[in-house]
Amino acid sequence: MNTSTNIQNELVNLEKNALDQLTSVKNVQELSDLRTQLLGRNGELTRILRSIGELDVNERKITGQASNALKSKLEHALDRKNTDLISEQSSNLESIDVSLPGKYKPIGRLHPITQTLRQILDVLRRLGFTVVEGPEVELSSYNFDKLRIPENHPARDMWDTFWIDGKDEPMLLRTHTSPMQIRYMETHEPPIRVAVPGRCYRYEATDMTHEWMLQQVELLAIDKGISLADLKGTLHEFARQIFGPDSEVMLRNSYFPFVEPGVELAVKFRGKWLEIMGAGMVHPEIIENAGYDSSVYTGFAAGMGIERIAMAVYEVDDIRHFYTNDLRFLSQF
Ligand code: DAH
Repeated sequence: MNTSTNIQNELVNLEKNALDQLTSVKNVQELSDLRTQLLGRNGELTRILRSIGELDVNERKITGQASNALKSKLEHALDRKNTDLISEQSSNLESIDVSLPGKYKPIGRLHPITQTLRQILDVLRRLGFTVVEGPEVELSSYNFDKLRIPENHPARDMWDTFWIDGKDEPMLLRTHTSPMQIRYMETHEPPIRVAVPGRCYRYEATDMTHEWMLQQVELLAIDKGISLADLKGTLHEFARQIFGPDSEVMLRNSYFPFVEPGVELAVKFRGKWLEIMGAGMVHPEIIENAGYDSSVYTGFAAGMGIERIAMAVYEVDDIRHFYTNDLRFLSQF
């Protein structure tokens, strides 16, 4: 039978043991275990508190007060120990020398040419063009002959490139995206509205506005009754979207063997006209070669240089910056 005296003795022992154990606690986990051992549902103090119910009223009162006092004393001691352990832990952490330079961690982003290309394709999609892609390694006949650029034609000089031995005919790294005009017409019927992005390669002496690798987007629209006015309207809206409503653009006549008439679009950049695309009405011979009736179907085509457009949009004065991988340049976009 529990008596008040027994319980008082138990409380004294419990307090002594508990405080002893507390001094040897080394970490938060041990502290949490000790808390459960003392104050948990089946803890030592809890057990004593439960046994108080067996005492008579007067004894119950005195022992009850003593037990509760011990309970809050232990709770305080455990809490204090917890605070000590945590501050001990953080002062053990490696100290930081704030005078050292920070670790340089550049955050990745899209290349300026990719950003420009995506913007261009967004505008073209809104204008009704579907995006398709074609081969970068191309048959010489698609890059030249089928576009009305026969062997020995002076225009071939403008588009010399890297050659590869082909099986039946020479192959090359395409010099422009125009071969996809032919490939697309061969496999589709009008009406056609496609935009073809892709890399092109030229045997080129590089300078501020020329690179040996460039990205283009080709446009082709074939339908009944397409006229030069449609080409002009499309290019005008395109320029307005890309360069802004106040930009100065100029459409002037030019020559490309696969269009008639041929034009080029230039944008005012640093006081000079920078040619950013060639365009024109698809040559009737090319329409006929595709199997369409050129008295019914007409169309326009255009080919734009993405690096040139990016130069004008971002005011970059040398095309070669885009591919030298200098983070000081690339991180500005
Ligand atoms: N392919 C030409 C070039 O790379 C650009 C071009 C001119 C594309 C006129 C066209 C066009 O579609 O109609 O220089």
